[in-house]
Amino acid sequence: MVMADPILCSLQHNRAEAGAAAVKPAVKPLKLGVHTNKHNGQSIMKTRITELFGIKYPIIQGVIHYVGYAELASAVANAGGLGLITGLTQPTPEALAKEIARCRTMTDQPFGVNLTFLPSFKKPPYPEYIDAIIEGGVKAVETAGRNPEVHLPRLKAAGIKVIHKCTSVRHALEAERIGCDAVSVDGFECGGHPGEDDVPNMILLPRVAEELKIPFVGSGGMADARSLVAALALGAEGISMGTRFVATKEAPVHETVKHALVEADLLQTRLIMRRLRNTERVLTNQAVDEILRLEEEKDEAITIADIRPLVAGTQSRKVLQDGEMDAAAWSCGMVAGLIHDIPTVKELIDRIMSDAALLIRGRLEGMLTA
Ligand SMILES: Cc1cc2nc3c(=O)[nH]c(=O)nc-3n(C[C@H](O)[C@H](O)[C@H](O)COP(=O)(O)O)c2cc1C
Repeated sequence: MVMADPILCSLQHNRAEAGAAAVKPAVKPLKLGVHTNKHNGQSIMKTRITELFGIKYPIIQGVIHYVGYAELASAVANAGGLGLITGLTQPTPEALAKEIARCRTMTDQPFGVNLTFLPSFKKPPYPEYIDAIIEGGVKAVETAGRNPEVHLPRLKAAGIKVIHKCTSVRHALEAERIGCDAVSVDGFECGGHPGEDDVPNMILLPRVAEELKIPFVGSGGMADARSLVAALALGAEGISMGTRFVATKEAPVHETVKHALVEADLLQTRLIMRRLRNTERVLTNQAVDEILRLEEEKDEAITIADIRPLVAGTQSRKVLQDGEMDAAAWSCGMVAGLIHDIPTVKELIDRIMSDAALLIRGRLEGMLTA
């Protein structure tokens, strides 16, 4: 489903015009607490997030189970964003150490590792995963799920910057209190686990901005320059994207999955595991229909054991890597409705950054009358 987007069309038109005026030399301070420069023909954006992680653009690739391998993390790093290896996709700490070493052969830019602390069928050996991160010389860690406080002293002592992913103002403040360097705020629209408060980013991000002192990125529903500029306007200092990065050339997922994202519209996600207070946003398929049927049937008596074969990570791997689209539930954001192509990571990030400059300098500044 390829749709003509009026704003992007006008962006492309503006871009052609901007090309004609490319000699414009000035480094123009913007009115958003953000500064842009011209560098190799690309716009550079400096925020506290780019400074914190030593990256060119304020774009983070969110943790993606069974997708966040070295191929994707290094592609994002090489394109100027912060790529993340999904720690727990690696079956053991030794495997994570090898994946970090493999990523180093693919990029000389900074990249990070995510550690997700969620209820799982088998508790991973987190301290050993942290050993692999520290010994691998990784300087950025994204934590997600439960409170990472007990692991922070070791990470901080190793000079690692920690960004914690959360879904509410209170959890963002708690992350700040325990010493996290930044927060990634996931709104209700996000793929994966949006929490139980159901507050979308249009409200959540400015509320977080009102309270938080450390920098944060907006996550959930981010797909393009419009998302980035909106997130900046709402107080964030960058964005994190999950679903959008799945539909890129380098994402190591089955082609059928990428095309399913291009085909999907914004009404095709569902919330599962609500009654278990472990809500997950997923793309609808036969497995999801069955989960929802069981949840309806068993109501409050439902347990994880009732749906385990349909939600286990190993099953979602069948979808993502083998293209068995009905095998299990798999995380997907409403933003699928904004995905119309399968670019390379570099094409995607370059497009976001150049369109963002056009949006800010052209569309927004052009609306000012004084
Ligand atoms: C296929 C897929 C797998 C994901 N796996 C994880 C995970 O293992 N841990 C986690 O905390 N978040 C996970 N997420 C959530 C993302 O890191 C990110 O927060 C979310 O995708 C942002 O919303 P968006 O999809 O609208 O960009 C996953 C998302 C997707 C699409």
